[in-house]
Amino acid sequence: MANLIDGKQISQEIKDELKDKVAQKKAQGIQGCLAVIQVGEDPASSVYVRNKKRACEYIGIGSKSYELKESTTEEELLALVQKLNADADINGILVQLPLPGHMDENKVIQAIAPKKDVDGFHPQNVGALVSGLPGFVSCTPAGIIELLKRSNIDIAGKNCVVIGRSNIVGKPMSLLMLRENATVTIAHSKTKNLQELCKTADILIVAMGKPKFIDASYVKEGAVVIDVGIHRQENGKLCGDVDFDSVSPHVQAITPVPGGVGPMTIAMLMYNCVQAMTK
Ligand code: GUN
Repeated sequence: MANLIDGKQISQEIKDELKDKVAQKKAQGIQGCLAVIQVGEDPASSVYVRNKKRACEYIGIGSKSYELKESTTEEELLALVQKLNADADINGILVQLPLPGHMDENKVIQAIAPKKDVDGFHPQNVGALVSGLPGFVSCTPAGIIELLKRSNIDIAGKNCVVIGRSNIVGKPMSLLMLRENATVTIAHSKTKNLQELCKTADILIVAMGKPKFIDASYVKEGAVVIDVGIHRQENGKLCGDVDFDSVSPHVQAITPVPGGVGPMTIAMLMYNCVQAMTK
């Protein structure tokens, strides 16, 4: 049986480390506060936003919520972002995605001051990642690197296949694995022979958004499998992009859903918020 990579436990360790750091900074008179903006009432977004605010409270930084109506105009949202950029008491700004269809997400992301962009979505932070410069890194991929490192899984020299090329996960994930000296291949919906390609992976990172798509026939014996997907099944239970029961007997280590990658995203957001306190 494979080793289970326990994201719940590892994220708790990280949050406890951050809690100590925040206490030290407080003793030096440095406070932290994250502004969280949600537009509309998407239920999944509301759950994420609530969990992010709870995590702030846990590590001891402030959070300010801005719950805007679905009908808010792009101009109004941009004006709020500008106001928060200029507010010295706010050191992190997070605009929960997706935004309603009448707004240009790229325009909103680009309006956030890069030094307050704790999601790591601003092109300046993405460019810093590409160039190997310091900057904020997107939380889910950063969390996956922490999961691998804290589980003592070597990355250097390994063949890594990342399935998915989104700006939030697939692209920054590939760059981070490259930074850790893996040999990286990015697969996507137009990739030919996905099964054969995945079979070459020592580390397979799956962010394709298809419930239980990856079964044992895609996985090399002894590989490490990281599942970024999260889906609600008809029976009410959560599952990932990986068919856990099929894959887990064949791998060295695997993340469960829930309790794998998910909790790491918020832990790394808190990591970025603590970084932002001294920028
Ligand atoms: N929507 C889904 N994931 C994320 C995330 O990491 N940050 C933000 N702001 N919105 C999201």
